[in-house]
Amino acid sequence: MKNFTFHNPTKLIFGRGQLARLGEEVSAYGKRVLLVYGGGSIKRTGLYDDVVKILDDVGAEWVELAGVEPNPRLSTVQKGIDLCRAHDIDFVLAVGGGSVLDCAKAIVVGARFDGDIWDVITGKARATGALPLGTVLTLAATGSEMNANSVITNWETKEKVGWAAAPYTYPAFSILDPVYTFTVPREHTVYGIVDMMCHALEQYFHTAENTPLQDRWIEALLRTVIEAAPKALENPEDYEARETLLYCGTMALNHILSVGTGGGDWATHDIEHAVSAVYDIPHGGGLDILYPNWMKYVLDAAPARFARLAQEVFDVDPAGRSEREVGLEGIERLRRFWTDLGAPARLADYGIGDENLEVMAEKAVAFGPIGELRELSKDDVVEIYRMSL
Ligand code: NZQ
Ligand code: ZN
Repeated sequence: MKNFTFHNPTKLIFGRGQLARLGEEVSAYGKRVLLVYGGGSIKRTGLYDDVVKILDDVGAEWVELAGVEPNPRLSTVQKGIDLCRAHDIDFVLAVGGGSVLDCAKAIVVGARFDGDIWDVITGKARATGALPLGTVLTLAATGSEMNANSVITNWETKEKVGWAAAPYTYPAFSILDPVYTFTVPREHTVYGIVDMMCHALEQYFHTAENTPLQDRWIEALLRTVIEAAPKALENPEDYEARETLLYCGTMALNHILSVGTGGGDWATHDIEHAVSAVYDIPHGGGLDILYPNWMKYVLDAAPARFARLAQEVFDVDPAGRSEREVGLEGIERLRRFWTDLGAPARLADYGIGDENLEVMAEKAVAFGPIGELRELSKDDVVEIYRMSL
């Protein structure tokens, strides 16, 4: 293992009926609340009314920022910062999926930063503080509810940037009630499943030694998602399946899986963010196209690792075959699992051709070569895009 310090300050409040805890949590942090949400799903599901009633019951004054986009935009972050300043907001409550949470993270930092928040997001300046943030999560996917990460798109420059400003961008608390995920549409349920599996896989492909518990945790998480996913898709109101996926999504990216490993190989996230930045496709939709092709591209850098994944997660029989062959079958089974769920398999499924491969690859390696198992240059990324057409 590599030396590590693990500290995750987010209070996770999980389970049926736990929204009832919102009032006491909000009251602990503030009285003037900015309520941040997305394109209206929380109004359709009734969650908006439940949250507003709780805010009113505890005597909070609140204003709202509605309309946070999937792939949240810098312009929306700026609107939220302006609202915080105009209304002397002392607490931000994000209610929605990862996009809403990520947007709120940028808002809380921006409200305490004297300058352009884009400079913080792009690493040109350091965060100087933050308003406290609470979240109510409605979609199992990103792990944003219990990590410090945020991903913001500057639509003018077509840049999608992942950033973090720990400890400021950790939510103080996150409330997760699986019932509020019953209404997630089929395609977003699938994208969330792909996203959490990719997070686990990316942490699996590390190069540290003696990490038996971390490796088995990841294998267990992947097997668990594979078991629960079809149940949630067949019956969207299957509480146990939704509960399992929601918990897996959080555990896949609250960094517990990578203690002592150094983090893993996150190249595909950079490769996907560059596609979303140019074409505004869903993050999980991009990942399920790209990830198996990244795996094939780097397979020879760590065949034993791929063979282990194939056996431990996909029950591939290794008898009489090389590690490479076994690993390749594991990759095929992963692809088939996602395709059977209804995930797209080619960039063409989103109408994406070869017109912007160089532009996207340039963005993917904007901060230098990417990857841990195998370092990827711009040309390597172009090749992975080509395999995905
Ligand atoms: O906007 P509304 O109307 O709320 O609808 C959303 C949106 O259209 C809908 N939805 C969410 N909960 C629902 C629901 N519809 C019905 N019932 C519910 N309960 O689902 C759609 C997608 O929502 P979004 O928040 O965009 O999805 P997700 O949670 O997958 O977040 C994606 C964003 O997170 C970033 C991605 O790049 C992307 O921008 N990521 C953030 C990470 C992090 N902070 O750690 C890590 C990830 O790797 C990822 O990059
Ligand atoms: Zn992701």
